Amino acid sequence: MASFITPLILLFISAIFLFLHRRSRYRRLRLRLPPGTLGLPFAGETLQLISAYKTDNPEPFIDHRVHRYGPIFTTHVFGEPTVFSADPETNRFILLNEGKLFECSYPGSISNLLGKHSLLLMKGSLHKKMHSLTMSFANSSIIKDHLLVDIDRLIRLNLDSWSDRIFLMEEAKKITFELTVKQLMSFDPGEWTETLRKEYVLVIEGFFTLPLPLFSTTYRRAIKARTKVAEALTLIVRERRKESAKEEKKNDMLGALLASGNNFSDEEIVDFMLALLVAGYETTSTIMTLAVKFLTETPLALAQLKEEHDLIRAKKSHPEEPLEWTDYKSMAFTQCVVNETLRVANIIGGIFRRAMTDINIKGYTIPKGWRVFASFRAVHLNPDHYKDARTFNPWRWQSNSETTSPGNVYTPFGGGPRLCPGYELARVVLSVFLHRTVTRYSWFPAEEDKLVFFPTTRTQKRYPIIVKRREESRPSNQTWKGKEEESEIVD
Ligand code: HEM
Ligand SMILES: *[C@@H]1O[C@H](CO)[C@@H](O)[C@H](O)[C@H]1NC(C)=O
Ligand SMILES: *[C@@H]1O[C@H](CO)[C@@H](O)[C@H](O)[C@H]1NC(C)=O
Ligand SMILES: *[C@@H]1O[C@H](CO)[C@@H](O)[C@H](O)[C@H]1NC(C)=O
Ligand SMILES: *[C@@H]1O[C@H](CO)[C@@H](O)[C@H](O)[C@H]1NC(C)=O
Repeated sequence: MASFITPLILLFISAIFLFLHRRSRYRRLRLRLPPGTLGLPFAGETLQLISAYKTDNPEPFIDHRVHRYGPIFTTHVFGEPTVFSADPETNRFILLNEGKLFECSYPGSISNLLGKHSLLLMKGSLHKKMHSLTMSFANSSIIKDHLLVDIDRLIRLNLDSWSDRIFLMEEAKKITFELTVKQLMSFDPGEWTETLRKEYVLVIEGFFTLPLPLFSTTYRRAIKARTKVAEALTLIVRERRKESAKEEKKNDMLGALLASGNNFSDEEIVDFMLALLVAGYETTSTIMTLAVKFLTETPLALAQLKEEHDLIRAKKSHPEEPLEWTDYKSMAFTQCVVNETLRVANIIGGIFRRAMTDINIKGYTIPKGWRVFASFRAVHLNPDHYKDARTFNPWRWQSNSETTSPGNVYTPFGGGPRLCPGYELARVVLSVFLHRTVTRYSWFPAEEDKLVFFPTTRTQKRYPIIVKRREESRPSNQTWKGKEEESEIVD
């Protein structure tokens, strides 16, 4: 009897199994979500992500999941299910379809800090117009004809003040802020810019209070500081409106905005200027610090870089003589260092977008309303795309193999309609900074420093270094007076 029933039960059980299996397979086929786990309810995999990025090697979070599920997978971070892409083609698809299939979305806490007219929050045709206006403020002919002189001058001014021990990150931030203020509204560094910077630093802190800004005093302080910064900038805008009515025109971004014929309100202009200050600040200063750090750890590269820049100096009659655009264009190895620093450091590890409709890609469906994260870091550090991908090796850019590979494996500045308008400016600033630093100083790190990779790459400390003036760079006794000293100073 028993021998008769057992097979029946087994048959019954396997029928149920088959049915359940079929059903789940059917659901999966209909939706075809990318594979992955959603982790804990609410917290999802956020904690794993954050803790991975606070270590030396954040890649296991991605490596582990890519190994298990492939380059497109589903995870659950910051309170939402998110499709994560480590695939260059998919990343490119996401970037190029901005505004059509995807749109950027920031949490409310970030929007409050940015201001509602910020370029980063704009959408549709308004974004298109303002993005191309912004691109034209910092394109290569503007840098060549107007910005380079001040970049070189303000960097030299900052380096003049280096004593034997400095915090490189602090100096880089100061330089970046002063440069942006100069480019936006022609102010030279002084008491006013330092006061503004102190408030501004509090605003920036607010961006790093994710994921729980509303419970944070840092965030509330940031909102207050934003109001103060906006007030200070509004005063400047009003003054400049009066001046421009009197035909006094200044050749800066504020002047270009006022002259663009768009009749922008004060608030729109202030939000616009704040967007540039925010987007360029942490990014440019971090890349300056990390370039020095990577070079310090790669003495051969540093030696070759020094050689290139000493050669440029040797052609000048005076150590303080300004850099020309042709000098910048002759820095071949420097450009390799710049590219490699941007690749390894990944200041912006990737970008968040939201699906505007159901999107089919690579056999999966991203449901409407879902968040996606296109990871640049995962591509830049993938050994399939770069040999020894996790080593700093500027020489890899000399062989054409890497640069001839499809453009979508290298996207430190994003791409598509939201391509970083500061991409050329950041490269020039970093190159000039390296030029002045290596020709004037030698240095060594004062203590060990670690990198933090989240939310953007930062150094954990302020990267203290001991600097020493290089003998041959001491200024000779006659002082250099060049045309750049005559550039306009506003007070
Ligand atoms: C190493 C330095 C920099 C890096 C790595 C960087 C990277 C990026 C990336 C990846 C984006 C795209 C964001 C997205 O698609 O959502 C972006 C956007 C942007 N960047 Fe940069 N950036 C740098 C420096 C600068 C500088 C110096 C400026 C100032 C002129 C700037 C201004 C902007 C602005 C305004 C946007 C928003 C564009 C838009 O939403 O249409 N960036 N940046
Ligand atoms: C750069 O922008 C200016 C306007 O700000 C424009 O006149 C010029 O043609 C642009 N140059 C390039 C190379 O796009
Ligand atoms: C400019 O905008 C202001 C309000 O923002 C409006 O009063 C004024 O008429 C506008 N001027 C032009 C020329 O559009
Ligand atoms: C650096 O990267 C850019 C792409 O962002 C590329 O156009 C350029 O050729 C690269 N430079 C070198 C020296 O390979
Ligand atoms: C510069 O001045 C110092 C004294 O102030 C003198 O010792 C040195 O020889 C001078 N160098 C040149 C190149 O004239």
